Amino acid sequence: MTLRKVAVADLTEKQAASELKVLATEIALHDSAYHRDDAPTISDATYDALRKRNDAIEARFPELKRSDSPSKKVGSAPATGFKKVQHSVPMLSLGNAFSDEDVAAFVDRIRRFLDMDADQAIEMTAEPKIDGLSFSARYEKGRLAVAATRGDGSEGEDITANIRTIKSLPDFLMGDVPKVIEIRGEVYMTKSDFAGLNAAQEAKGGKVFANPRNAAAGSLRQLDPAITAERPLKAFTYGWGEVQGMEWKTQWDFLQSLKAWGFPINSRTKLVKSVEAMLKEYNKLGEDRAGLPYDIDGMVYKVNRLDLQKRLGFVSRAPRWATAHKYSAERAETVLENIDIQVGRTGTLTPVARLKPVNVGGVVVSNATLHNEDEIARKDIRVGDHVIIQRAGDVIPQVVEVLTAKRPRDSKPYRFPTKCPACGSHAVREDGEVARRCTGGLICPAQAVERLKHFVSRNAFDIEGFGEKNIEAFFTDQLIESPADLFTLEKRGGRTKLEGREGWAEKSIDNLFAAIDRRRTISLERFIYALGIRQVGQATARLMAQAYGSFSAWRKAMIAAKDKESGAYQDLNNIEQIGESVADDLVEFFAEKHNRDILEALSKELTVEDFLAPDTSASPIAGKIVVFTGTLEVMSRGEAKARAQSLGAKVAGSVSKKTDLVVAGPGAGSKLKEAEALGIKVVTEQEYLALIGG
Ligand code: IVH
Repeated sequence: MTLRKVAVADLTEKQAASELKVLATEIALHDSAYHRDDAPTISDATYDALRKRNDAIEARFPELKRSDSPSKKVGSAPATGFKKVQHSVPMLSLGNAFSDEDVAAFVDRIRRFLDMDADQAIEMTAEPKIDGLSFSARYEKGRLAVAATRGDGSEGEDITANIRTIKSLPDFLMGDVPKVIEIRGEVYMTKSDFAGLNAAQEAKGGKVFANPRNAAAGSLRQLDPAITAERPLKAFTYGWGEVQGMEWKTQWDFLQSLKAWGFPINSRTKLVKSVEAMLKEYNKLGEDRAGLPYDIDGMVYKVNRLDLQKRLGFVSRAPRWATAHKYSAERAETVLENIDIQVGRTGTLTPVARLKPVNVGGVVVSNATLHNEDEIARKDIRVGDHVIIQRAGDVIPQVVEVLTAKRPRDSKPYRFPTKCPACGSHAVREDGEVARRCTGGLICPAQAVERLKHFVSRNAFDIEGFGEKNIEAFFTDQLIESPADLFTLEKRGGRTKLEGREGWAEKSIDNLFAAIDRRRTISLERFIYALGIRQVGQATARLMAQAYGSFSAWRKAMIAAKDKESGAYQDLNNIEQIGESVADDLVEFFAEKHNRDILEALSKELTVEDFLAPDTSASPIAGKIVVFTGTLEVMSRGEAKARAQSLGAKVAGSVSKKTDLVVAGPGAGSKLKEAEALGIKVVTEQEYLALIGG
């Protein structure tokens, strides 16, 4: 944000008009970043300051209020991809209070509007303001009919299927229910679930979220509800839209109904009768804020009596009867001393700011995340800069602002490395991706352990009795650094080296080497899969094996495909289901000499069998499209898929009209329902095993 130094009172009309124009554009951009892309680029406090400034200028120059004024809008238009839902009662926003005086002024305004005396108490609810994503869920005759995001306030996205996956939100309402009721609330993710999700995403090279709110929003707005179902989402409810056939006297009574129907309401909600009591609750909650399991960004005060709410009504985008008393984010200024690049287990290069240690809200902070290359460029963050950092709850501190006025004269823009700091291999960035990745793969110490674990895993080399723990220990002790080392371990005096180790009796050493020897012959598809080439999972590995037939043919073709004009590259691209991006990952793998060296070393130790097309003439599922869903108890997913394919079936990830058979285990959800709706044959895992003969 650029600091606007002219006080609103001193603005000329011309200055005011031009600033309103800039603010309209700027706020609209931030609205889109926040609501549509779930990726805000400024802090909430900075955003609120922009809006406040806009409102203040408009208040002084009402005739300059623009037709596209931010004060007329809430949020941002819905993203495409979801069906749209019109809200029968608009989902509005709240005005903000930032200080005790603002709260007192809010209550004063109400009193004046209602023509009440200063000594007449106005009862309010004080509710924690959950930092999540608001939703509206419509229940007809007690049954969930449709659910939507807020969108732009009048039209949101249809997220009914996704809302159904949230366990704390009922599908049916219990007890006395109105004919129609739209329940409004906030979907959120707890801080610990957020940390867990990010760790899992990081491990599989998926999207890592900046904070719990973005994680909740990103998880709720998935076109595939199966993904939402896997995400740990929770909800609190606090309001309503359309209601038919029921009335309440107070907000408090309404909250009790929510509770009786089975909705989660926030237990820290209180009834208060004075500004002092409101501030006391606000301060109490503020003290506990860091320790709460979820993020809050303020306290919402609402006039408790609904008849008074009705009289008070709305001003532009917010009710007169409620306001949000915001907490300030915990911020501090410090110097960014260095930018380090960390290499994740999947090869992602992540920049980390090393800071001059500074106390932020009671916690000493010396590192902050810089997210990625683009983020550094966009904010023009440089080594030596004075920066404002922010800590919110458990979230990793972030650099929110660069104080360019304090920038050293000789500072230079940061150049993101194009070589991996851990191994020196090229670090490349693919079209459309934000992350730069190390291409070192197996030779990169930052990635090697994970790659080795993959190499020996069940669907790859499947070396019996050789688990993740052993890989880690052997790697640390430099017994195995690259895959071929596994097969040369015995030759290299592995026996004597293992004899001295705890847990390695002679018998287990014999077993290990026997297990390794049994895998010296391997199928081409398993071999390709084991290499852990980016985007090359079991299905792609199988396609490769099918298309090229032998290891030598495959290797030759992949090396030749480096030339994009070559027939080899064309052939690769022409394989059905191999897109350009997978083809590029394959070519890239072979373009690195260290990878070719590994293949060479492996080929000396192994026999890679040619691909044999399975004889599926007697298979009951040859040519059929099969979908597996729910928990399989006998087979692993990978095994089920591989077996079905070897019997000539095609395994699909979702149910459609083309599906021939659905194998459903316990816990099957939307796919099972869909199959039933489409009249597709559904069998249990046992029935399926009987069908395919064991
Ligand atoms: S009442 C017309 N109550 O804050 C009144 N909102 O800044 C609408 N929020 O859009 C909202 N906790 O997403 C209300 N206890 C609470 C809330 C709450 C969080 C969110 C909600 C709203 C936004 C307004």
